Amino acid sequence: MGSEESTSSAYPKLTHVPQHVAIIMDGNGRWAAARGLPRLNGHQAGTENLRRVIRACVEFGVKILTIYAFSTENWGRPADEVEGLMHILEEVIDRELDELHREGVKLRHIGRLERLKPALREKVLHSMELTANNDRLLLCVAWNYGGRDEILHAVQGIIKEGVPADQVTEQTISDHLYTAGVPDPDLIIRTSGEMRISNFLIWQAAYSEWYVTNTLWPDFDKQALYEALQEYGRRDRRFGRLSHCEDYGEQHAG
Ligand code: FPP
Repeated sequence: MGSEESTSSAYPKLTHVPQHVAIIMDGNGRWAAARGLPRLNGHQAGTENLRRVIRACVEFGVKILTIYAFSTENWGRPADEVEGLMHILEEVIDRELDELHREGVKLRHIGRLERLKPALREKVLHSMELTANNDRLLLCVAWNYGGRDEILHAVQGIIKEGVPADQVTEQTISDHLYTAGVPDPDLIIRTSGEMRISNFLIWQAAYSEWYVTNTLWPDFDKQALYEALQEYGRRDRRFGRLSHCEDYGEQHAG
């Protein structure tokens, strides 16, 4: 587990703050539809909310936040929605990068950059270079990310390196994932009530705690995050054993 206590002026102390929180930010489309707005307005509202949630994570003592922003399957959405989401990513980098950097956020992309337009790819690479030495919060952005694609990419890398089959361990696979070196998520939050993994961190989620809420992503505010972290604090993580085991995360980091 992560730090044992977190202080916040308006919120009572949390016990057992998860070190790594991952979020499936679902429900932007339904949020927009409920207001008679185009789907992209929902993604814009979701983006605004992301800014609030990043701040709240820092305040509550979360050290790593991974967000599922664009999946390998999202290319199958209408072209204007795909184009709009790419535009949002570009705008966010242009508008928010300096502030994120000042606030000590380290950015890391997980997924494949190849399919992105060269200018956007460059911006993503620049954002990672600029923030490489920050350590207040590691923000992993899953963009053109799929869990199966990630495992395929890892296996291809291991074979290309010529690692003998009997020397391939779980750690070898972890070390070849896009998330190499990042501890597995302690808590995965999914908004909008859907009960599925949707190809997100399928290797890393082996022993993550899940928290599903009916709240749509644009409405998932600081209070909602606090409640999810409180619920995490009540869980008894056994990792398949009989009693609570604190050191699993360290043993399986990577
Ligand atoms: C799922 O809701 C959300 C997405 C596919 C996109 C999430 C992206 C953002 C919030 C953009 C901001 C991210 C960055 C890093 C700039 P949905 O469209 O599937 O909603 P629905 O299920 O209600 O239709």
